[in-house]
Parts: sequence; structure tokens; C-alpha cells
Amino acid sequence: MRVVVVALGKIGLPLAVHIARAGHEVVGCDIDAAVVDAVNAATPPFPGEAGLREALASVVGSGALRAQADTTAAVAAGPELVVAVPPLIVDAHAQPDWRVLDSVTAAIGAGLRPGTTVSIETTLPVGTTRTRVAPGLARGRGLEPEIDFHVVFSPERVSSGRVFRDLATYPKLVGGLTPEGEARGVELYGRFIEAEVRPMGSAEAAELTKLAETTYRDVNIALANEYARYADEAGIDIERVIEAANSQPFSHIHRPGIAVGGHCIPVYPRFYLGSDREAQIPAAARKVNEAMPAYAVDLLERAAGSLRDARVLILGVAYRGGVKETAFSGAFAVRDELRRRGAIPLAADPLFSPAELRAHGFEPWDGEAVGAAVVQADHEEYRRLRPEDVPGARAVVDGRGVLDAAAFAAGGVAVLRIGRPPVLPTT
Ligand SMILES: NC(=O)c1ccc[n+]([C@@H]2O[C@H](COP(=O)([O-])OP(=O)(O)OC[C@H]3O[C@@H](n4cnc5c(N)ncnc54)[C@H](O)[C@@H]3O)[C@@H](O)[C@H]2O)c1
Repeated sequence: MRVVVVALGKIGLPLAVHIARAGHEVVGCDIDAAVVDAVNAATPPFPGEAGLREALASVVGSGALRAQADTTAAVAAGPELVVAVPPLIVDAHAQPDWRVLDSVTAAIGAGLRPGTTVSIETTLPVGTTRTRVAPGLARGRGLEPEIDFHVVFSPERVSSGRVFRDLATYPKLVGGLTPEGEARGVELYGRFIEAEVRPMGSAEAAELTKLAETTYRDVNIALANEYARYADEAGIDIERVIEAANSQPFSHIHRPGIAVGGHCIPVYPRFYLGSDREAQIPAAARKVNEAMPAYAVDLLERAAGSLRDARVLILGVAYRGGVKETAFSGAFAVRDELRRRGAIPLAADPLFSPAELRAHGFEPWDGEAVGAAVVQADHEEYRRLRPEDVPGARAVVDGRGVLDAAAFAAGGVAVLRIGRPPVLPTT
């Protein structure tokens, strides 16, 4: 089958490669010429995706995947399936800015031929596929949705960094605007997804499923964070409690931590809240999770005293370990909170150059002595950190539970943990 994949980002590119590897002829489209050139040269345009380099070399080498900038021309060539995964840009309050989605929809619509099925995988507020995407696609060439072409919503549920593994194992959900469109979507996805392809009954059910699973995680983490704060007060180790609670098969408590970042978990509960005006729990959870960076700084201040004029190193600006992405990263809130208390925040991250750190509004660490540090991202490298890697620090907040706390304590550095007793210097 011939497939067009629009937007070759951290999700779209591995997906295009996956479809090509399954034996189909794939054209990937991206407005960024540098991305198009990199893909055609079989070079991953971003780091950190397991297996992408080898797989890209293989499908570009065999001619199964090629990239181009012109989406309309690719769609006009008449593929059976067009899959679009453009980013949905949101503002600081997670309100969608529709421009990218609308321009992708218009570009596809301008080339759309009767008989094509278009699938949107970008996470959307409930109802967007039917009320925004389908009319946008139809406008281009005056076609009738569900008569001339089909539109389905199939939420991308994978995580960047391990897309191939997730695509192979997670059920792929497909929801249509009509039973016929949904059946066609399920059939087309079944040609390259080995995992179950599950019909959802409607595009709205598929849209809500993605919001429901991400909101569940946000709420669950918020509950873990509340338990952690209580455990700190009560002198209880929450790790031990959560592990024990989860030994009961109905308990699935997540882990507390310094921040909930990324494109998804802090954003999609707000999409849900935008649809369900009565909802209370997701709103409360958001408040709890957004307060965690300041709570981590509180822990530091309580142990180290005033932070005024202290140089404090933020370890990790990525929203999570191993991923070069800062969307809604807790590092921003930690930096702002430190400034508010008069400290001098500095930042280091193995995935970001000093110039990139600066571009994100962080002062790159110069390697000189600091008074304290905050581990914000769970980069693998931090598991091997030693006290001498953070020269001068008397206290470190381990916001992700990754440090070798005993090694730090032996080196005279107090390790403060969220929901766990501190590990105090032994020298
Ligand atoms: N990153 C994740 O872990 C993840 C997980 C699940 C779902 N998603 C979903 O996938 C979507 C995309 O995420 P991503 O991480 O791949 O984004 P990304 O920022 O890595 O990539 C987006 C790509 O879209 C391209 N683009 C922008 N405008 C375009 C246009 N008009 N036409 C063609 N290409 C265009 C950009 O050049 C870029 O290459 C998210 O909005 C989200 O809904 C992401």
C-alpha cells in the first residue's frame, strides 16, 4: 500500500519507518527542509530514538521511505492512507493554538482524492476530528467527508525514545466518523500494526481514551505526590509504602517526583477539563503537581538554610531522562523558584549544549563550585554521579530518586528526597 506520513517528528518519523519496514511504500512530509534532507540522507534528525538509525538506513536505502516538503503533492499522488502527526502547539495554560493543525489539514485537503483515508494521530480535545479536521480536509477540493473520503482518529500512545517497541505491543485504537470509515481505518492499520487494532466505535471515544489515560496518570502521580509530602512530615519512607501498597493487585500507585513535564501529561488533563466543565479531580491534581518544583526547593531551603546568593545547579533541563525535549519541563519552575528565593540558578544537561541551555533561558554551569544542586531529570548518567561531580555542594535534592545517596553522604553531601527521609553526611 502507498502511505503518506505528515510531520516527521519524534513520533511521525519512527511511525513512517515502521510502516515502510512492514513492506509499504511511504512518503514522509515535513515543512522543515533540514528534516527532509536528514531523512533522505538516512540520518536521524533528533537523538534518542532506540533503533531509529539502523531502521532508517534500511528503509531509505531500499527506497521504501523517502521524504519531501510538499504534503499536497504527496497526497495528490493518491495514497490509500494519509497519517498526520503534527504537533498541537499549546500556550502556557495548555490552550491549543490551531494554526499548525489547520495548515496540515489544509495542505492534505488541497491534494485529497476520493477513496483516501486520512488518520489523525495528534492528541486532540474531544470532538476535534469531526468538527475541525473533517471540514478542513473537505474544503480543499470540495469533497464530502465519509462519502468521498474517510477520516479516523487513532491516538498516538507511544513514548518517544521507545516508539518501535510501543508500536509493536500497544493496542492501536481507531475511531471513525462512521462505521464504514472506522472499518476501513482498522483494516488499513492492520496492514502494518502487529498488535491488536481496536475499533473504538467513534472518533470521540478514541479521542477521549487518550485524554483519559493521560489524565489518569496525572491524577495518580498527584496522589503519590500528596502521599510523599505527608510522608515527609510524618518521617515515613513513601517508596517502601508504595511498593508495599502495590503488592496488592488492585493498587497501582505511581511514583512521586519533582515535576510532571512533557507534551502530554501536564497538557491533556487540561484538554479534558476544557470539555468537562464539571470535572474537579483533574484540576486538583494539576495544582498538586504544579506545586512540586517549589516543594523540592523548600526541601533544599529547609536543609541548607537561606538560598540567597547561593549558586544552585539544576541537573537536567529535559522533562525526563534520555529525551532531548523541554516541553513543560520542571526545570523552568525550579529555575524560577530558585530566583524568587534569591539564589543563582545554573543548569547542566548531557543532552543540551551551553548554547542550547541559554536558548531555553538557563545559565549554563561553568563547572565551578556550587552551594547546592537539584536533580530534575532522571538521565541515566546521574545514577553514576559522585559528590566530586558537583563540587562545593553541601546539599542535593534528588527529585527523581536516581542518585547514589550513600556515596553522596560519604562525601559530605546531604541528599534530600521527595517522600523519603534525607540521607545525611556520614563524614
Ligand atoms: N513526543 C511524544 O512522546 C508523543 C507521545 C504521544 C503522542 N504524541 C503526539 O505526537 C504529536 C507530535 O509530536 P512529536 O514529538 O512528533 O513532535 P515534534 O516536535 O518532534 O515534531 C513535529 C514535526 O512536525 C513538523 N511540522 C510542523 N508543522 C508542519 C506542517 N505544517 N507540515 C508538515 N510538518 C510540519 C515539524 O517540522 C517537526 O518535524 C504531539 O502533538 C502529540 O499529539 C507525542
